[in-house]
Amino acid sequence: MENIDWKNLAFGYIPTDYNVRCYWRNGQWGEIEVSSTDSINIHMAATCLHYGQEAFEGLKAFRCPDGKIRIFRMKDNAERLQSTCRGIMMPELPTERFEAMVEKAIRLNERFVPPYESGAALYIRPLLIGTGPQVGVKPAEEYLFLIFVTPVGPYFKGGFATTNYVIMRQYDRAAPLGTGTYKVGGNYAASLRANKAAHDAGYSCEFYLDAKEKKYIDECGAANFFGIKDNTYITPKSTSILPSITNKSLQQLASDLGLKVECRPIPEEELSTFEEAGACGTAAVISPIGRIDDMESGQSYVFAKDGKPGPICERLYKRLRDIQYGIEPDTHGWVTVLD
Ligand code: PLP
Ligand code: COI
Repeated sequence: MENIDWKNLAFGYIPTDYNVRCYWRNGQWGEIEVSSTDSINIHMAATCLHYGQEAFEGLKAFRCPDGKIRIFRMKDNAERLQSTCRGIMMPELPTERFEAMVEKAIRLNERFVPPYESGAALYIRPLLIGTGPQVGVKPAEEYLFLIFVTPVGPYFKGGFATTNYVIMRQYDRAAPLGTGTYKVGGNYAASLRANKAAHDAGYSCEFYLDAKEKKYIDECGAANFFGIKDNTYITPKSTSILPSITNKSLQQLASDLGLKVECRPIPEEELSTFEEAGACGTAAVISPIGRIDDMESGQSYVFAKDGKPGPICERLYKRLRDIQYGIEPDTHGWVTVLD
């Protein structure tokens, strides 16, 4: 076994032993195959290469204090992938097949599930690509679905610590009626320049306003945004953001903790009224936001003067982690325990 420094893992790729694959050919899904190579061999005219017929997912599995492995909300990821498939004309993978492949990929790579004490997790990356050739713009007739896993640490340096974001109006991630609600590679390609500009300016991530009016809060890099004020959890309603499974979970947990929950358009000015704010996602978990700067107006919205996460962010983070690690009862049926 390689010496993996579990405690200091970054959010990156470390090779594991196996990945699992399934092909769509002649109008149906084939058998689940196990592969030990991390390469794929595809046709040079494959639609994923030319026309962006590509979807992915991201979820995590955790080694828990009781020694078991728990997978968080994989059914929701299966369903979101199906929604993405409908969005870009790819065949839908049935939920049972998705779940069976996730479980298989974890079991085959069990030695890469980080120990509980490390705070790291096994990141599971399902990928669906059009492999059939087309030169005209149309959907492929053949597809490859695969899942690889890799152990990861925190997405942002420091993990549960505040970092700063920047609004840059010169970039859009997704159009109001475009592909923002789907997890397709094109959205991430569209974000690369803004992300680089944000990093170069010393921010942890770029922050998007709605593409049409540049008035409302949209996506927070590769995560959803939430704000807290007056005992209320407030998160954007938008047709161009990814429906985050973490955000959905936090809305439930906020409500369990007695907070009101609002999902509605959030005008940029309202940022000045929030007591706390955070970015949320599988990779980001909750990444509390210290400050958001608006590059154009010069306005700064400060949520954490002392650099510490706020009390509600802390409570939500702890609740979420405790459910993921089997420390708190899974009252919402979110967790699959691998025996
Ligand atoms: N928004 C974007 C653009 C993302 O890439 C992700 C990550 O998957 C999220 C939000 C968070 O979604 P989830 O909580 O389902 O991981
Ligand atoms: C996730 O949170 O799973 C993401 O997909 C974020 C990023 C790595 C794309």
